[in-house]
Amino acid sequence: MEIVAKTFAGLEDLLAAEIEVAGGKKIKKIKRGVTFEGNDECLYRCMLSLRTVLRLLIPVFKFKAHTEKDLYFKAKKLPWEEYMELDQTFSIDCISNSSVFTHSKFAGLRVKDALCDRFRSRNDDKRPDVNVRNPDLPINVHINELDVTILLDVAGFSLHQRGYRKKDHMAPLNEALAAGIILLSGWDKKTDLLDPMCGSGTILIEAAMIAQNFPPRLFVKSFAIEKWDNFDKQLWVAVKKQLKMEIEPSFVKFKGFDISKKAVSMTEFSARDMMLDDRIEVENVDFFEAENNWDSGFIISNPPYGERLKEDDIIGLYKEIGNTFKKSYSGFQAWILSSNFEAFKFIGLKPSKKIPLKNAALDVKLQKYEMYSGSKKASKQVD
Ligand SMILES: C[S@@+](CC[C@H](N)C(=O)[O-])C[C@H]1O[C@@H](n2cnc3c(N)ncnc32)[C@H](O)[C@@H]1O
Repeated sequence: MEIVAKTFAGLEDLLAAEIEVAGGKKIKKIKRGVTFEGNDECLYRCMLSLRTVLRLLIPVFKFKAHTEKDLYFKAKKLPWEEYMELDQTFSIDCISNSSVFTHSKFAGLRVKDALCDRFRSRNDDKRPDVNVRNPDLPINVHINELDVTILLDVAGFSLHQRGYRKKDHMAPLNEALAAGIILLSGWDKKTDLLDPMCGSGTILIEAAMIAQNFPPRLFVKSFAIEKWDNFDKQLWVAVKKQLKMEIEPSFVKFKGFDISKKAVSMTEFSARDMMLDDRIEVENVDFFEAENNWDSGFIISNPPYGERLKEDDIIGLYKEIGNTFKKSYSGFQAWILSSNFEAFKFIGLKPSKKIPLKNAALDVKLQKYEMYSGSKKASKQVD
């Protein structure tokens, strides 16, 4: 079957590589995503194990529509009953990039009306209900000019969710983006890893899972596909079992610092939830005062971007990050993610790599700094 996988801009290559490992064929990169072919086994593997994916969608109908009316009549002719029963619920999410269908919400409503009217005409005026929160059949409508594609969302929720973030944190990093920056950094899964401003611990938890080849959605329950007629429960259980067998032992140390007590307790809570609390050590301490007792290591972090800080404070913060790297972290390499490109300059070390990315609509950059032992200089700047 054809499958569409969506991700953040800049993570397409990583996602394609992950899909290849999961057994996907005919992999093609598209804007913010990848299309590929795979059987049920491959799909189930992707659902449980892809780290950088946000949505997995299966295209079921494709047609051309020239007007709103045309969209309605063509959508009404589609055999929706092959995908859902009258007593099941559905939702419709429409994205339109078209000069004809300029209001995606309205186009989505036309498809919803068409689906309901088809059921009504065949079931004594009865129709399935809409459920936007937890639908049995989450339907996506993509319109590109006149081309309409109807896709089914196999999860019904964004796949960045792994189930470990139970409590709110002020500025958590999206889990798929966190996994993406760890993979982009080229971290070898063996070097001890520090996030000196760890917040709710997303980077540490994602890294600990990567180190063990631990499938990020192993503990997630109730994917929409589990309620579909053609869901192969036996195969699902077999794929889960196989993925569990592929988990590898890891002896890497993970450490996090944060000045916020609440953040530290959140990291501890999530680490416990993922059974990673014996691997991840967190300290409620100011990074600039924390003692470093590692000779070398890898740092990946996203410091505050500055939304809640005054300009002087954010400049001071990034200056202090650079000073602390130079003073106490020689022999380390650090990867810093930020949307504050001005503040980056105050780190005072030349980045040896700059990777532009998107955090939803926000432009961000991942920058690499190398603190060579015996030298305060970082490597040559690369633009
Ligand atoms: C953008 S958040 C990090 C979010 C984190 N990656 C997550 O996924 O939750 C930045 C964090 O830096 C922490 N922080 C700010 N200044 C700090 C300092 N001097 N030392 C340690 N942590 C600090 C804040 O408390 C906040 O939790």
